[in-house]
Amino acid sequence: MTFNTIVIVGMSWGDEGKGKFCDYLAQEADIVCRFNGGANAGHTIVSEGQKFKFKLIPSGAVMEKEIIIGNGCVIDPEILIEEIDTLEKLGKSVNLKISSTAHVVFPFHKTVDGLEETYKERYKAGTTKRGIGPTYSDKASRYGIRIYDLLNSERFKQKLRNLFELKKKIVKLYGGVWDFEFDKIYKQYVEYGKKLKKYVIDTAYYLNKQIDIGKKVIFEGAQGALLDIDHGMYPFGTSSNADALGVCAGTGVPPKKISKIVGIIKAYTSRVGDGPLPTELTNKIGEQIREQGHEFGTVTGRPRRVGWLDLFNLKYSLMINGVDYLIISLLDALEDINPLYICTHYEFNGNSLESWPIQSEIIEQCKPIYIKMDGWGKRSRKEWADIARIGYDALPENMKKYIRTIEDILNHRISIISIGPERTETIQLEKIFS
Ligand code: GDP
Ligand code: IMO
Ligand code: MG
Repeated sequence: MTFNTIVIVGMSWGDEGKGKFCDYLAQEADIVCRFNGGANAGHTIVSEGQKFKFKLIPSGAVMEKEIIIGNGCVIDPEILIEEIDTLEKLGKSVNLKISSTAHVVFPFHKTVDGLEETYKERYKAGTTKRGIGPTYSDKASRYGIRIYDLLNSERFKQKLRNLFELKKKIVKLYGGVWDFEFDKIYKQYVEYGKKLKKYVIDTAYYLNKQIDIGKKVIFEGAQGALLDIDHGMYPFGTSSNADALGVCAGTGVPPKKISKIVGIIKAYTSRVGDGPLPTELTNKIGEQIREQGHEFGTVTGRPRRVGWLDLFNLKYSLMINGVDYLIISLLDALEDINPLYICTHYEFNGNSLESWPIQSEIIEQCKPIYIKMDGWGKRSRKEWADIARIGYDALPENMKKYIRTIEDILNHRISIISIGPERTETIQLEKIFS
């Protein structure tokens, strides 16, 4: 039996353009399904000049595809309902299904998130403060409240009481202020449950059935592989499996039903939050890239840290994700910078390392080694759009060299080239869905 499913994941620290490419590839798909993370994600889609920013809603919503939020996600119902309302006001039909076993984020999770960050001092990750870590912690320690709990008011009351009292103690232990009222949260979340009830199903069963009858499914990653809880830069990452490995646990779809893995790399590096970033540029060039790439966090508005492309960590990311197809985004954002540098590997204590060291304590002592590349000149937005329309041959010659160098070093071809935020500013060299 053959299946037609693809996974789209960020290969680095998030914000590689997952929203853009889930929307782009959704043109050919039936279903788009999120499998990890929560409202810490910020996925941007630009379609005919209109900009959409989603935190929880899968990016297939713009194309009005069937969208699913899998069990691996943590759901802040207030944000989800807001996003559904916004789409409906725009006249979009929202064909949504939510896993009954996804976990629920409460306001006190956000308070604990902030307090934990302060307590951790130099080991804080610079979280989005959306309560993601504390909600996944409750899931792992089996205190968690799942979406289906909201639909049974008596059971929900019991579970919430337990969690509420525990969190009150924790907040006070951290020296924080507890200003939550049980009844208020309880009533509010019962209301959320009523609003969301019509979307809630057993998504594992549903997805498997759809895949078995040949539906084309995109699994949309949130964050990026280097933020993954197991394989990323711990503790400077997120609390879920943010790479292709997360799909099966986060949806109930078994590995043998995953056809292809699509990894997205940015033409340079960006990171929002804390932790070592060996190729970071804290100078004027960094500022120029940040401006040209509009590198400001989609969720928090924080300026993103930027740096030269790091092929050493991408080799690692390629390995753990088992990537079949590569997409490169934001090449246009490197315009008017000459020369450009690409990191090929790191040195540690004067020796070249064979593989990316996963321990942050080693990474912060590593020296990135670069090759120098010629840049390409500035183009107007209209020129980039025209280039995308013509295709690969119209790309600046030095950009082609930059792409070929990446392909050679990674020993992996690039299948899609992106030179602008619009859906149309995309050059697809290879078919991804069969
Ligand atoms: P995601 O979290 O991976 O979905 O990425 P974000 O949406 O947070 O950040 C990527 C940003 O880059 C968004 O503002 C996109 O609209 C934009 N973008 C995506 N691809 C390109 C590209 O090729 N060129 C430019 N200039 N912007 C892009
Ligand atoms: P998308 O899906 C970039 C980062 C935070 C912080 C760490 C932990 O848009 O790529 P968390 O709130 O998850 O506990 O924060 O992870 N982070 C992201 N960085 N893009 C994201 O999502 C991110 N989601 C979380 O900045 O360093
Ligand atoms: Mg983002």
